[in-house]
Amino acid sequence: MNSSTLSGRTALVTGSGSSGGIGAAIVQVLAAAGARVVIADLPHLKASALSQCEALSRYGYEARFCELDVGSQQDWERVIAELAQDGLELDVLVCNAGINSPSAPENQSLDDWERILRVNLTGPFLGMQAVLPSMRVRGGGSIICIGSVSASVVTPPTPGLSNAAYHASKAGLGMLAKTVAINHARDGVRVNVVAPGSVLTPMLARGGKGAELMANTPMGRLADPAEIANAVLFLASDAASFITASTLTVDGGYSAV
Ligand SMILES: NC(=O)c1ccc[n+]([C@@H]2O[C@H](COP(=O)([O-])OP(=O)(O)OC[C@H]3O[C@@H](n4cnc5c(N)ncnc54)[C@H](O)[C@@H]3O)[C@@H](O)[C@H]2O)c1
Repeated sequence: MNSSTLSGRTALVTGSGSSGGIGAAIVQVLAAAGARVVIADLPHLKASALSQCEALSRYGYEARFCELDVGSQQDWERVIAELAQDGLELDVLVCNAGINSPSAPENQSLDDWERILRVNLTGPFLGMQAVLPSMRVRGGGSIICIGSVSASVVTPPTPGLSNAAYHASKAGLGMLAKTVAINHARDGVRVNVVAPGSVLTPMLARGGKGAELMANTPMGRLADPAEIANAVLFLASDAASFITASTLTVDGGYSAV
């Protein structure tokens, strides 16, 4: 991969406004590979996103920010229309935005359950609906969903708590990605999942289980966000031209034991 791997392409990464997150690392790696990048996140992350854009522009990379709540169909329509007004259509969509809120399943409120499903599963569904028409007309594109090993492995629960909604959302995301991949395989649109293990980000820090997760990871450490971003770059690039409906696990061996 080099600075022209994604040259001339436009990539939007959801949930990429928070510095230190996986989304921000993906934006940096895709921009360094030559893509025009769109940082999409909730309005309260505008300042952080704009400072990322500024930092990227110092390296000569092209980056912009769009306010986007992934669970809002109107937001997706507005963002796609704003980009089209500037002559931009997406070649790469990375569905990265995600949330978690551990809770005992019997105590989890319906609102909380629906909030997690809305961001982690409905968000990618709406994103795919928004970008597929233009990707099909233009002969292709690459959609990458950030799943999790939690799609297939139950992470060690804190006593009394579980991540049931999170696990369910990531498992659902895997089948959403596969289904759309098969439906659009002949349109040149590839859809894949990157499934991280434990990555050192604000989300993991909030969970307070970093040390335990590190101990349970055969490689004995957490992933750096850039290690997830590199897997995304591969799937976004033409090097992955025959790869669709697949999951690339990036977990230091966590899910194998
Ligand atoms: N950190 C890990 O160990 C880990 C492991 C496996 C998978 N993941 C997945 O990686 C992705 C990124 O996680 P992270 O660790 O960087 O988390 P993070 O909390 O650092 O970042 C999540 C981002 O999503 C954004 N977001 C939340 N709700 C949104 C909405 N409605 N619309 C748009 N953006 C929204 C947040 O503002 C934030 O920028 C998530 O999908 C997460 O499930 C993380």
